[in-house]
Amino acid sequence: MGYVRISPAADRDGHVIEHRDGTFYLQTAHTSYWFAVTEHGHLEHIHYGPRLAIQDPSALRWSRVARGGSTVAYAPEDVRYSLDTLPLEFSGIGQGDYRTSPCEIRTAHVGYDLDLGYRGHEVHAGSLAARTLPTAHGTPAEATTLVIDLADERAGIEVALHYTVFAAADVITRRVVVRNTGPAEVVVEKLLSFQLDLPEASLGGAPRLITFDGAWIAETHAHDRPIGPGFSGVSSSTGSSSNRHNPGFLLAAADADEDHGRVHGFNLVYSGNHLGSVERGATGLLRVAGGINPQGFSWPLAPGEEFETPEAVLAFADTGFNGLSERMHRFVVDHVLPARYRRTPRPVAYNSWEALSFDVSERRLLKQARRAADLGMELFVVDDGWFAGRKDDTAGLGDYAVDDAKFPRGLGSLVTKLSALGLQAGIWVEPEMVNEDSELYRTHPEWALRIPGKPARLGRQQHVLDLCNPDVCDYVVASVGALLDAHDFRYVKWDMNRHLADTHSPHVRAPGMTAHQYVANLHDVLRRIFEPRPHVLLETCSSGGNRFDLAMLAHSAMIWASDDTDPIERLEIQQGLSYLYPLSTISAHISNAPHQQTLRNTPLSTRFNVACFGVLGYEYDLELLSSEERKEVREQIAFYRTHRDLFQHGRFRRHTKPHPDRFVWQVDDGDRTILGNFQRRVVAAPAPDLLPVAGLEPETTYRVRSKPQRLMIDRFGDLINHVTPIRLDPRGVVLSTAAKFTSLTDAAEEYVGTGALLAQGIRLHHQFSGTEYHPGIRMLGDHGSTLYVVERLEEGP
Ligand code: GLA
Repeated sequence: MGYVRISPAADRDGHVIEHRDGTFYLQTAHTSYWFAVTEHGHLEHIHYGPRLAIQDPSALRWSRVARGGSTVAYAPEDVRYSLDTLPLEFSGIGQGDYRTSPCEIRTAHVGYDLDLGYRGHEVHAGSLAARTLPTAHGTPAEATTLVIDLADERAGIEVALHYTVFAAADVITRRVVVRNTGPAEVVVEKLLSFQLDLPEASLGGAPRLITFDGAWIAETHAHDRPIGPGFSGVSSSTGSSSNRHNPGFLLAAADADEDHGRVHGFNLVYSGNHLGSVERGATGLLRVAGGINPQGFSWPLAPGEEFETPEAVLAFADTGFNGLSERMHRFVVDHVLPARYRRTPRPVAYNSWEALSFDVSERRLLKQARRAADLGMELFVVDDGWFAGRKDDTAGLGDYAVDDAKFPRGLGSLVTKLSALGLQAGIWVEPEMVNEDSELYRTHPEWALRIPGKPARLGRQQHVLDLCNPDVCDYVVASVGALLDAHDFRYVKWDMNRHLADTHSPHVRAPGMTAHQYVANLHDVLRRIFEPRPHVLLETCSSGGNRFDLAMLAHSAMIWASDDTDPIERLEIQQGLSYLYPLSTISAHISNAPHQQTLRNTPLSTRFNVACFGVLGYEYDLELLSSEERKEVREQIAFYRTHRDLFQHGRFRRHTKPHPDRFVWQVDDGDRTILGNFQRRVVAAPAPDLLPVAGLEPETTYRVRSKPQRLMIDRFGDLINHVTPIRLDPRGVVLSTAAKFTSLTDAAEEYVGTGALLAQGIRLHHQFSGTEYHPGIRMLGDHGSTLYVVERLEEGP
């Protein structure tokens, strides 16, 4: 057999897809993904891991020199060939592979029998866009796509497996297109986007699964556990990617940590019901799979029709979780986000929600806006409550007329005044929903999703509009488009505040199509509204992080990560997201304390120190800020704007937690480095804290300084009497007035050393430990934190 180099141009750039002796070699800069066509036409998975030179892969192939016990031979003349013991690229059903199939298609004549054999392949330069869903994009210089055609002629089914190799990004995406080539209708009851059979020995024999799970105001907490026998995984059935389980997950070797070891990452470019699973059987193989959740899904295909899955994203790193995250981050920025948002600086926002709730008006907003502009904010977002009837969450959704009582001169007057203050204007919308108390619902009650003959259920007092209905889509496109064209809005927050139930539409051919068609049409609506308006920065939101996924990021610049703005909760939420999503996509605001969601009281410094590792904003009644707080906020914003590029587009690393209650984050870009050191809970008589600084040049000398921050004196209560010349009542007027105008310096620290020295871990100054205060002591207590800025002093030899 010859050696066929399929993409020689790509090979010069270090990436390649090659086909040699029936084996497909997919090569990225640091990884290899290989599979081969077996003697019976199945695709045998060979290797996904560190990059290997292309060679005869036999030594990596699964042995078949003996018959397996308790197996079914695929062919009578070849009793040692059983599909149950082979690693496979994409299994059919009913052929002797007893692991779960990614594909269940019911045909009228053979039921569920499906034997998918190789028929041919094609290679395309660049990515191939899907017809109905968003997919990652890559130019011919960045990406190469291999399409493998499989078929079962007896069943009348063709399956095309798409593999797009993003070589420099070290990512491979996969998706599947199925086609009915038979004479009768078939029903696709399950069709996942990928299957990957990995030897568990490649992950140290004791692999771990890491998922990102939660609830409203507690999204994307990382959970790490050993994979036991049988099934593990995540799924969503809420109609969106959900705050229950993010679609992204990781598999890691037993000994992997943030900086070492083998880690596989999986994600999905999809905003609907998803399933991600790992099946651990007795054969030493793990079957990883992911795609649309088959629960409640079925898709009939008439002769000649096709169905395409969402795209799955696969990455591997042998440099620990940080190595994997770096690859995923770069991939999202370069190949998922719309090109217009890629490296665009995100403005510092003021958002009206937490301070004003529904009680917005031109007068009240302008009071906040004057303060916001004075403090250095750049974008002013009018959140919920601006349209007619929207006094609370029982009314108004569906209509887009401005409330004349709140805005007697219309929104245009506000936008003009914001502009005069130097602020861009932004607006909140929730176009997928309708309240019963709205003109839209009174006119078109049939536009809401509902099971015929049964009252529809409410969530947050609202119904879900039936986006399977083209008239509804046109209405949303026209209404939001008109709002954006009537005013100079530079930003939109697109919200979605309930889950789907009563998931039935008369506008699809079968009930099992509704949830998926809704999502496909949503993406079309977003494309129609925002592609022609590239000046509008889109942020998406779904009660916070209920729809934090790659398909929403194919339209938007960032996503509101959580309605929870308590920084201690945000440590978990933002850290969880950081495994798979870059900081420029994670929207993070500072609000008042005690927090609306937890009642926790946290220092203003920590609220900033957490939010700055993301896209910064404030949701705060700025009129209530004391003079000291105003100074602090002004300095925070100036600091963020100076280092914005680093916080939004730098390389992010999580340092291995020295203690469950400490988090250490770092951003760097080769020139600058900033670290955040966070303490959730203080312990008495603490051991010295070490702060490791990663990625510096070993022989260059650096200076590390804490970012100046204020300690507000009302934090100390009666303790303040230890440092004041006269005794003060902690609840008295003298102290409360003083607290508005005076503060203490917190943690003034400075350290110098070479990169090699700093990598050992700086022995940080003492924390407060009940003995004394001075400006060099780190006054952390519960919820305390400090930022450290690293500057280069002298080049090494
Ligand atoms: C959701 C969002 C909030 C806010 C409210 C408005 O909860 O997550 O940020 O926009 O809706 O109703």
